[in-house]
Amino acid sequence: MINLTDIEKRFHEDTPNETHVIKNLNLRVKKNDFITIIGSNGAGKTTLFNLISGNIIPSSGKISINNRDVTKSPEYKRAKYIGRIFQDPLLGTASGMTLEDNMMITYKKGFKWLKISLDRKMRDYFKQELVRLDMGLENRMKENVSMLSGGQRQALTLLMTVLSNPEILLLDEHTAALDPRNAAIVMDLTNKFIQGHSLTTLMITHNMKHAIEHGNRLLMMDGGEIIIDIEGEEKKNLTTAKLVSMFSEIRKKEFETDEVLLAR
Ligand SMILES: Nc1ncnc2c1ncn2[C@@H]1O[C@H](COP(=O)(O)OP(=O)(O)OP(=O)(O)O)[C@@H](O)[C@H]1O
Ligand SMILES: [Mg+2]
Repeated sequence: MINLTDIEKRFHEDTPNETHVIKNLNLRVKKNDFITIIGSNGAGKTTLFNLISGNIIPSSGKISINNRDVTKSPEYKRAKYIGRIFQDPLLGTASGMTLEDNMMITYKKGFKWLKISLDRKMRDYFKQELVRLDMGLENRMKENVSMLSGGQRQALTLLMTVLSNPEILLLDEHTAALDPRNAAIVMDLTNKFIQGHSLTTLMITHNMKHAIEHGNRLLMMDGGEIIIDIEGEEKKNLTTAKLVSMFSEIRKKEFETDEVLLAR
């Protein structure tokens, strides 16, 4: 479904500040894959998402989605079928607007050709969708989003993204700013939505346990390359210790025992 072929990305090309951020990256994502991605800071994970979403264009190589070459297709066009969620709960929703207005705006994005307005039918629909979050938000539809907690807000962003009807979901550490309890709630919802809406998903996380527990395939990036790619049964049998020792074998160096990466 998503094919990245021989992707290279350099920033500040042909200047003394040139950096080579993505190196010879090849990745084939199948429909309904749920791929978790780990790797240290600066490994190139977010850059990979920027390339897939069209936020940046590769220095060389080809990106195709559903057999269409989108290498140079602009971000707003890809946004029709790609939903992206970031770490910061404030980014996904507009603070000064009510829940229902926020939901309406995102919903319209997925169904541009339809003439829809926030009438009773839409409100009922949003209400019924909000019940799925199990956070009581269905009774707070006229409140501003700024009144919600980080976890509630991220859950709402997730729901809104799903309602905009994407085929591909890109999650960039979307639970990292939440406390463990809220992170677990949002992860449960994430799994539920991915399955319920057959979303093809890539999820970046610094939480190794999450990366192992969720999804059908796991990638580890380091220095702009995919150095570990594990799926199916082999992924089911993975442990944090195994991943760390695989890293050392491949890179001939110790895995940075990043507290965040290992602690949770
Ligand atoms: N627009 C840009 N211009 C210049 N350099 C960039 C740009 N975007 C990313 N980089 C550089 O590319 C490298 C990879 O960054 P990226 O954000 O992809 O890392 P990451 O794996 O997402 O890290 P983190 O876990 O910290 O989020 C970094 O060295 C970063 O400074
Ligand atoms: Mg990042």
